[in-house]
Amino acid sequence: MTKQEAKKEILELSEKINYYNNQYYQNDISAISDHEFDILLEKLIQLEQNFPEFKFEDSPSQRVGGTITKNFQTVIHRYPMLSLGNTYSKDELKDFDQRVQKGLGGEDYQYFCELKFDGVAISLTYENGILKRAVTRGDGTKGDDITNNAKTIKTIPLRINSDHVPARFEVRGEVFMPRNVFDQINKEKEEIGEPTLANPRNTASGTLKMQDSSIVASRKLNCYAYSLMGEGLSIHTHGEGIKFIEEWGFKVSPTYQLCQNLQEVNKYIDKWEQKRLELPVDTDGIVVKIDNLQQQNNLGFTAKSPRWAIAYKYQSESVSTVLNSISYQVGRTGAVTPVANLQPIFLAGTTVKRASLHNANEIKRLDIRIGDTVFVEKGGEIIPKVTGIDLSSRKANSKPLKFIDKCPECGTSLQKKEGEAAHYCPNYKECPPQIKGRIEHYIQRNAMDIDSLGYQTIKLLFDTNLIHTPADLYKLKYQDIIQLEGFKDLSTRNLLNGIKHSKQISFERVLFALGIRFVGRTVAEKLALHFKNIENIRNASFDQLIEVPEIGERIAQSVVEFFEDPENIQMINELKQAGVQLEFLEGPDQQISDCLANRTFVVSGVFENFDREELKETIKNHGGKVVSSVSGKLDYLVAGDKMGPAKLKKAKDFGIKILSEQEFMHMINDQ
Ligand code: IVH
Repeated sequence: MTKQEAKKEILELSEKINYYNNQYYQNDISAISDHEFDILLEKLIQLEQNFPEFKFEDSPSQRVGGTITKNFQTVIHRYPMLSLGNTYSKDELKDFDQRVQKGLGGEDYQYFCELKFDGVAISLTYENGILKRAVTRGDGTKGDDITNNAKTIKTIPLRINSDHVPARFEVRGEVFMPRNVFDQINKEKEEIGEPTLANPRNTASGTLKMQDSSIVASRKLNCYAYSLMGEGLSIHTHGEGIKFIEEWGFKVSPTYQLCQNLQEVNKYIDKWEQKRLELPVDTDGIVVKIDNLQQQNNLGFTAKSPRWAIAYKYQSESVSTVLNSISYQVGRTGAVTPVANLQPIFLAGTTVKRASLHNANEIKRLDIRIGDTVFVEKGGEIIPKVTGIDLSSRKANSKPLKFIDKCPECGTSLQKKEGEAAHYCPNYKECPPQIKGRIEHYIQRNAMDIDSLGYQTIKLLFDTNLIHTPADLYKLKYQDIIQLEGFKDLSTRNLLNGIKHSKQISFERVLFALGIRFVGRTVAEKLALHFKNIENIRNASFDQLIEVPEIGERIAQSVVEFFEDPENIQMINELKQAGVQLEFLEGPDQQISDCLANRTFVVSGVFENFDREELKETIKNHGGKVVSSVSGKLDYLVAGDKMGPAKLKKAKDFGIKILSEQEFMHMINDQ
C-alpha cells in the first residue's frame, strides 16, 4: 500500500467511525453491529501503526486509549472556573431575583435553567475545530491536563464538523459516570468480594485521573456540555451558545428551559424535583443563569461566583446523628471495609445504625472523627451514606482518624496495592472471616445454592473445626451435625440433602463459587464455555487466558495464581471426588416455549417465587427479551416488591402494561 493510499483509507475509515459513533452516542442509533464497528476500528489502528505519520490528533482511535500519563501537567485556565452560589429555598431564590432586578436597573431579563449535574467540571479547548486540551477544574485558577483521558469519552468531539467554527473556543461541561454503569461496577465488585465504590461522582473523578487511558475508556464516562466561551463568538445569549454546541456535536442534556420570570423558574424546579431521578446522571439541584450575555457581563462576579447565576439545591431527606465508633469488616478476599456505627436515628422509614464508609480514601475525604455529628442520607442504595460532618459541633479535642494497619480479626499487617483504594489482609489461609467468607460465597444462591446452610451454621461448623474449605462440606456426616447446638434429626437431614443437591449445579456456577479473585458470574461463564473443564483452565497459561474475549490481565493473573496454590488443587480434587460438576455440559436447549416471543420485558423489584435473575432466565426460556430500562418500546414491566417508584411512574407514563409476579406466572403457565 502506498502512502497516499494509506492516508486515503485512514481518512475514510475515520470518517465512517466518526459517523457511527455520532449516530450511537448522540442519536441512540446502532447503525452497525458492535462486531462490524470493532473491525473498522481495528483496521484503522493497524493502518496507523504502519503509517504513524497519518495518525492524526483527532483520530477516533484515540477513543480506545492506550496512552500512559505519569504526571498530569498543571495548566492555568484562560477564564477562571468559578463556583456557584447555593440556595436551598424558593425564598432565597427570590432574594437572588431581586438582586438581579436591581443590578439590571429595570431592564427585562430571562433565565436559562439547567439541571445541576453531579460530576466533575471540565474545560475543553478547541483550536481550528480540533480538541487541543482538556483540563480539570482544579482550584478554579489552574487544573490538570487530562486530554488523553478525555479523548476516550465518546460524547466529547475530537473534531468539529462544521464550516463555521470559531478559530478558538472553550466548552465547559460536566463529566459523569452514568448511574447504570456505576451500579454495574459495584455489582461486579460485590460479586468478586471487593468493597463497593462510594458514589458515581468520586468514581468519575478518580477515573479521569487514572494514568492508563485504556482503563478510562473502559469505564464508559459521559459528558454533558453546558457552556460556550471565547472571543468573537457572535452569540448574544447563553441559549444561542447552547444551540451552537449542540450543532457541533457535543452532548447537551435536553432538560434545559428558557424561563421568562421567577414563576417559570419555580415551575421548572417543581417539574424536575422527581423527574430528575429518572435521568442517567445524578443531579443535586438546578442552575439558574441570566440568558443575555451582555446582562451577565453587567452583573459581573463576586470574588468566588457570578452574580448572574445561582444554584438551587433540592432537599434530600437528611438527618444528623453522632458517630459512636468505626468498625472494620474483613471480607472473603481480605478486603477491609470501614463501617460507621451511629447513634440510632430514624430516617425515611427505618432506624439507621450503621453506614458504610467504603475505604480509607472516603474517611480521609470526609475527615470523619469519632464523636462527630454527621449527616446521613439515603441515596439510591439501601445502605445509608454519611454525606458530611457538622463541623460547628466538632469536639475541640477530636483527632483525625487513622486507618487501622493490622487486621482486626487475625492481627496480620494490612497491605494496600498500588492504585487500589482498599486495604487487604494478606493472611488468605488463616484469617477466620476470609475462610468463612469463602464458604459463604460458595453456598450462596447464585453459586451452589445450598439454602439449608446459613452464616450461623457455617460459623458453628468452622468453630468446631469441621470445615475449612468448601470441599469439607461434602465430608460432613450425620453424626457430625446432629451433635451441633440446635440441630435435630430433620434439620440435620435437610442440611445434608442441600449439600448433596449442590452436586447438580452446573460447572460455570461451580467456577464462580470457587471464589477466585476477580472471577464474577459472567467471567466464570466465559471461562467455562471456552475451556470446557477445570483441568483445561488449570493448565491454561496467562497468554491463553487473555485470549478469551473480555478476560483481562488482572483476571488472567488471578486465575493463574489460584491454580498455583497446592491447597486449591487439593480442594478441587476433593470436590471432584465428591461428585461436584467440574465439566461444562452442553445440555439440551433451555428453550421451553416461545409463548413470549417478540415481547420485551423489564424486571424490577423483589419477588416471592424467583430471584430476579431466575425470572429473567424464565422470560428468555420462553422466547421473550429482557432489557434493563423502561422505554416506549417496552411491552411489559414485571413489578416486584420494593421496585423504584421512578421506574414504575415512567412505565405508567408510557402506558406500559405492568404485571405482578402472579400475572406473569399465569402468562407462562396458561400457554
Ligand atoms: S455553570 C460560574 N451549569 O457546578 C460557574 N455548572 O458550583 C458556572 N455544574 O463547577 C457553572 N451542572 O461543575 C454550570 N448546568 C450546569 C452545571 C454546573 C453542574 C457544576 C460545575 C461547576 C459547579 C459550580
